[in-house]
This record gives sequence, C-alpha cells and structure tokens, in this order.
Amino acid sequence: MKIFVTGAAGYIGSILIPKLLQKGHEVTALDNFMFRQNSLLDCCFDKNLKVIRGDVRNLELVKELAENADYIIPLACYTGAPITNLDPMAATSITRDAIADMLKFIKPEQRIIYPNTNSGYGVGEQGIFCTEKAPLRPISLYGKLKTETEAKILDRGNAVVFRLATVFGSSPKMRLDLLVNDFVYRAFTDRFVVLFEADFKRNYIHVRDVADAFIYAIENFDRMKDNVYNLGLDEANLSKRELCELIQKQIPSFYFTEAGIGEDVDKRDYIVSNEKLLKAGFKAQISIEEGIRDLINTYNILHKSEYYNA
Ligand SMILES: NC(=O)c1ccc[n+]([C@@H]2O[C@H](COP(=O)([O-])OP(=O)(O)OC[C@H]3O[C@@H](n4cnc5c(N)ncnc54)[C@H](O)[C@@H]3O)[C@@H](O)[C@H]2O)c1
Repeated sequence: MKIFVTGAAGYIGSILIPKLLQKGHEVTALDNFMFRQNSLLDCCFDKNLKVIRGDVRNLELVKELAENADYIIPLACYTGAPITNLDPMAATSITRDAIADMLKFIKPEQRIIYPNTNSGYGVGEQGIFCTEKAPLRPISLYGKLKTETEAKILDRGNAVVFRLATVFGSSPKMRLDLLVNDFVYRAFTDRFVVLFEADFKRNYIHVRDVADAFIYAIENFDRMKDNVYNLGLDEANLSKRELCELIQKQIPSFYFTEAGIGEDVDKRDYIVSNEKLLKAGFKAQISIEEGIRDLINTYNILHKSEYYNA
C-alpha cells in the first residue's frame, strides 16, 4: 500500500514508520522536524521511504503528497495540553485546521486512520468503565481540538479512529512528558516522586502496540471502518500509586509520597473498556512491567548530561 504519514518523525511515527516499511508498504513521511529529531535515520536507506521536510499547513505540498496515497495517517500535531497552551494559534492551525483543510481535497476512496486521545473521558466518569459510547468532554484546548477533528473525520467517513490511552515506552523520538515515561525517569534519576491525585486512574498503552494497532487497521480496514475504538491495555487501568508500586518493584530504591501539590487540567480519573477493539480482533500485548524495563534501558542511555562530571 501507499501510505502518507504526517508528523512521521514524532514519538509514535518513529516506531510506526519502520514497522510499515518492514511490511513492504511505500511510505511518504512528512514532518517539519520541529524537535530537531533524527529519529528516522535508521529507515532512510529503505527504497520504499520518501522523507519530506515540510509543514502540514502547506496545502499545496500536502495535496501533492497525499494524491496517490491509499492510506493517510495524520499524526502531525502540537501534542499535549502544555505545548498547545504555549501557542494556541499554531496548535489550532496544525492539530485541527490542517486536517480539516486536507479533508476537503482528498478523494472519498482514500482511507484515514486517526489517533484521538481518550482524555476527554476523564470528566465526570469516575468509577465507570468508559466505552466508545461514553461522551468525550475534553477541558483542555488540546483535547477539544482533537475531539473536533475526530468528529470531522467520522463525518467524512472511510476512516478508523482510535482513542488512545496514555502511551508509554521507548521511541527514537522520546517523550518524557508522558506519565509513565516521566515517572520512570524520575524514579531512575531522582529516586523519588511526589504524587498529587494519587488515586486517580487512567488507562495506558505501549507505543509499539499503538503502531501494531494501526497496521491491524490497515489489514482489516473494510471490517473496521467508520468506527471509533478505544486503544489501551486492559490490565492497565491503574492509579498513579499503583503505577509507582510497579516501578518500585524494578527500582527498589524508588520512594514516592503524596501531597496536594497540583491538579490535572484534564481531570483524568477514569477506567476504559477496550472490548470493542478486542472483538474486532486486536489485543494490546505489552505490559506495564515490560514497558518499565524498556524505559530503564532507555534512561541508561539518555540520563547523563554533559553538565555532570560523573
Ligand atoms: N502519545 C500519546 O500519548 C498520544 C495519545 C493520544 C493521541 N496521540 C496522537 O498521536 C499523534 C502523534 O503523537 P506523538 O506522541 O507521536 O506526538 P509528537 O509530538 O511526538 O509527534 C508530532 C510530530 O508532528 C510534527 N509536527 C508538528 N507540527 C508540524 C507541522 N506544522 N508540520 C509537520 N509536522 C509537524 C513534529 O515534529 C512531531 O514529529 C498526535 O496526533 C497525538 O494527538 C498521542
């Protein structure tokens, strides 16, 4: 298949692109490389990869790159509430408007796979398993832009939408701002974490399972299309305290305590059912424990900076 991926050099894209190439797909990878990341270097030799440095808001460029694609996977984004709040206009134009504009010119037969966040489930749903029928009521601008885009894509049709749990695990374009990645980093470097909202629960998924779910959607598209699926690890509806207990098993010197020091802007405290995707035949495989091991290896590489003598 010919696959056009935007934001291809990001945290998820940098795991997805090599997997797509291994499957023999032809990939056009667009990114503006805003983090100066070199995460796709290992794939550059592949004759089926074309890397383009450019902006998703450049409609002429996107039109040209998307033209012959069988599948479009729009990942380019100002990902997360903090970066979105730093520059709301840029975030709105990239996260929402660039995709809305693209929907106007792509052909009806071109297929889309889109990742929304499930963080909007967090509002007012404590203690209830959220299915895809539960309302998404995002609070942050990031959550709103993602959810508005999901609605536009579903309205257009010929699409599979995933609502992703909080992603964890190592990627060549690493993100330390994701909860599991952040906690393991703090446990590894500082040996302690002060928790707020310690009993708030969330669902999690390894970045490699996310990439595998995208590939599963490509291979089973006709069965899955025009649907939304929660994408998370069923065993991992965990509170922050439970997550810290799992980290402590692998880093025994890790200490955590609680204080009323903060608040999550998206009020995420919810448990999620991934049964619909399970029934469609896909099950996430990588446990939190395996992810913690993966992250400890990663931080042995990333940890020391030039400003430490030892
Ligand atoms: N990681 C998660 O926990 C998670 C959860 C839910 C949904 N998602 C969605 O998955 C997608 C990818 O997330 P990620 O974690 O890989 O984020 P990321 O920030 O690592 O990747 C985004 C990529 O987009 C690129 N980009 C930004 N602005 C651009 C522009 N104007 N033109 C071209 N490229 C641009 C960046 O360089 C980066 O490579 C996003 O749409 C995000 O909303 C991620």
